[in-house]
Amino acid sequence: MSAKPVSFNLGAWRQLSGALGGNLLRIPAHHLVTHSVVVGMTGSGKSGLVTVLAEEALRTRIPTIAIDVKGDLPNLLLNFPNFELSSYGAWLEASGECMSASEADAAALATERREALATWAIGEAQLQQFSERTHLRVITPGSTAGESLHVLSSLERRSPRWDTDLESARAALSAAVSLVLRLLGRDPDPAKSKEHVLLSVLAERRLLAGENADIPSLMQDLQSPPVDEIGALPVNSFFKRSDRLNLAASLNTLLASPTFTSWRQGAALDVAEWVAPRNGRTPAVVLSVAHLDDEERALVLGVLLEEVLSWVRTLSGSRRLRALLIFDEVYGFLPPHPANPPTKRPLVALMKQARAFGVGVVVATQNPMDLDYRALSNAGLWCIGRLQTDADRERVLDGLSASLPRGESARELDRTVARLANRWFVVRNAHASSGPILLQPRHAMSWLRGPMTRTELRAARVQRAVWQGDEQPLAPESKVEPKPAETTQKEENHVKPAFQHQA
Ligand SMILES: Nc1ncnc2c1ncn2[C@@H]1O[C@H](COP(=O)(O)OP(=O)(O)OP(=O)(O)O)[C@@H](O)[C@H]1O
Ligand SMILES: [Mg+2]
Repeated sequence: MSAKPVSFNLGAWRQLSGALGGNLLRIPAHHLVTHSVVVGMTGSGKSGLVTVLAEEALRTRIPTIAIDVKGDLPNLLLNFPNFELSSYGAWLEASGECMSASEADAAALATERREALATWAIGEAQLQQFSERTHLRVITPGSTAGESLHVLSSLERRSPRWDTDLESARAALSAAVSLVLRLLGRDPDPAKSKEHVLLSVLAERRLLAGENADIPSLMQDLQSPPVDEIGALPVNSFFKRSDRLNLAASLNTLLASPTFTSWRQGAALDVAEWVAPRNGRTPAVVLSVAHLDDEERALVLGVLLEEVLSWVRTLSGSRRLRALLIFDEVYGFLPPHPANPPTKRPLVALMKQARAFGVGVVVATQNPMDLDYRALSNAGLWCIGRLQTDADRERVLDGLSASLPRGESARELDRTVARLANRWFVVRNAHASSGPILLQPRHAMSWLRGPMTRTELRAARVQRAVWQGDEQPLAPESKVEPKPAETTQKEENHVKPAFQHQA
């Protein structure tokens, strides 16, 4: 028996001219198995739209992994199950948002949200249902603000993949070795770094033999190498003994450093476990790297995406959307040739291959010049928000032109995109026979208050854990200082014209 087809309710739509459309744009979930692209300048509503996509996926029981670079997606935790003052008041106080949160503060917030959601026919029943059915986690690699993650688990805890899928196992190992080298302040580039070659050879020997390649074992191997040659060269010619001892000493310093501990503790990187239902609830995992610097982000996300790709390859084929991978602000991670950050290979591979396994990929960015359009060429769904510069619009519409129905003029689209108001998008769905339309994403059920401080994130996780009936208490607070939160943008009125200056 085939399952009932599910669809995402994304919001209200209009015709491209701005003429009335309808209040409910439903997109069948399986349209998202080909990848989706969301572009638009800052403040155009991309994070809002991807949050709505995540909520719709979860509402329709589709596990979701959301990669968060700017700190907005942990807001998914702020998905209060009701408008009761106690829910809001408790959070405001615990988060330190308001030292003496008065009833009035909580009431104002609850009322504001009740009214905004009511215009989209979302009331307490829907919020309650969402909360009951969803299991949300926020994972923060290299920090204990969210759940910590053993990012080096593909190196230090042997995966059974070494017996079944050597190619994936090697890719995951290479990404983990790059991360270790970056943490050591050495060259992490697998194509150039001799350290990378040496550590990979040593680690792979252990992993192939069924052992873990933990850091202390690798230090031992550096001191007395268990292999004679690396490639065609004797070990000592490839990498001098004194240099090897030096590398072993740096690894030791790393092991002893308290900040490194946060990279090696917590749950193993196990994507299959992340997407498995928890007590009947649909799981959402937000992987937030907002607290890391640019290079760390690329390396950590390289490791994570390699794992996601390996997991995808273990699935059987599916035409149904069975999981959604969202990447909010992909700037710098999927750049055009020749740039090649560690995220690019797995992302491009996911865009090519994941659809066959029913895994949809959504990428959002404010910088359309930086995207690899070859990888995006057959995206099924494009959501184009306001873009101010001619160059940005031209780039996007060029990338899109191949998928426009005949007779549709790029010039008309260009004019439309230039005039769009914030929180409106031109949507081109290659699976639909109709041409592009305008979408105003519905109000997110999650309270989009912007990046959270570590205290706020913790308060949100504690409250969520109570609602979810989680058994595990949260990990003890770490001393590592967070970056300060950015200010939240003011909520805009939900009843908005589609264009900035209506004729
Ligand atoms: N669907 C939505 N529901 C509720 N609020 C929204 C929605 N979309 C946007 N907003 C509001 O508008 C603000 C700006 O939108 P958003 O953060 O999505 O912009 P963005 O395009 O992601 O910007 P940036 O490129 O700077 O990340 C949000 O902080 C939120 O307050
Ligand atoms: Mg954003």
